Amino acid sequence: MTGGSGPSGKDAPNGVRPHIPVLLPQVLSALAPKDGEIYLDGTFGAGGYSRAILEAADCRVLALDRDPSVIAAAHRITPDYPNRLTVVLSPFSEMQEVWRIFEGQDADGHYIVPQADGVVLDIGVSSMQLDRPERGFSFMTDGPLDMRMGAEGESAADILNTASETDIANILFKNGEERQSRRIAKAIVATRADKKLTRTLELANLVEKVIGRKPGDPKHPATRTFQALRIAVNAELDELTAALTAAETMLKPGGRLVVVTFHSLEDRIVKDFLRNRSERAAGGSRHLPEVTRKQPSFRIVNQRALSPSAEEISVNPRARSAKLRAAIRTDAAAHTV
Ligand SMILES: C[S@@+](CC[C@H](N)C(=O)[O-])C[C@H]1O[C@@H](n2cnc3c(N)ncnc32)[C@H](O)[C@@H]1O
Repeated sequence: MTGGSGPSGKDAPNGVRPHIPVLLPQVLSALAPKDGEIYLDGTFGAGGYSRAILEAADCRVLALDRDPSVIAAAHRITPDYPNRLTVVLSPFSEMQEVWRIFEGQDADGHYIVPQADGVVLDIGVSSMQLDRPERGFSFMTDGPLDMRMGAEGESAADILNTASETDIANILFKNGEERQSRRIAKAIVATRADKKLTRTLELANLVEKVIGRKPGDPKHPATRTFQALRIAVNAELDELTAALTAAETMLKPGGRLVVVTFHSLEDRIVKDFLRNRSERAAGGSRHLPEVTRKQPSFRIVNQRALSPSAEEISVNPRARSAKLRAAIRTDAAAHTV
């Protein structure tokens, strides 16, 4: 989750605060845009990163977002960068396929192999999505239990009203690290026997009733439940894993990978992926011949993830849990074929 203007949101037309790009100077510094290069921004959102990249160098950006409302808004920005910015409606797990179509074919009719100078991902929900009650992401305002970033697939209500009690508990535990997952799942199943769950506040109140609120805890008790459902609805962890392996294949030697995440499950995926790719890979037992061991496909830029400064958080509280990891592609073969 990112973005947001002042903490009050008072300056927000219709309650939707403008999205503030998170860790922008650090993203730019890690991506180091240069003239003539080409970048993939997998999470266009309000276009904060894409625009900054395009302003920093005479380069091109192919941007993706799975949210149709983002794409409609993006088409108002593309004319500012003639022939330099293309925005496509797509999940970022499909970045390689989109890139192939974008680059087209060579003179012999073969698709040109994707070769990016940089890939950037800013995982999570934008302010525009979070602040619109009708999208169903927020437990603070009432709306339908939707939570889909794209226009297709099961909504949160679909999952809550059809999945088994065990499956709901597993979703809450695995995606939200919710220790009271079983009790919440039981209450959901008991409630839906009378009437389907359809509204965000209904769910938020149910969770609060089941697990209570610790005195003085600024975190709403439904925070973990909402995070877990959002991750399940949008298959967010699978998307991230697929995007990382696609980026490994698409990046040129020397190409930069920059990923900003907003909770520990995502950060762990990025950290483990980069660790695995930057050391001799697991198959690399000392006892195997040198030739069968995989060479590192990435060099990690910062061993510890970068976090926003207190100053950035004071201006943009939604940045508070952000973590940035960056790595540079080596010339070794990709580990994932
Ligand atoms: C945090 S916002 C990005 C903000 C952007 N960096 C900016 O500066 O304006 C995340 C965006 O990524 C999109 N998104 C999240 N997961 C996605 C996925 N798997 N594929 C494509 N877009 C995704 C969301 O729809 C949202 O618009």
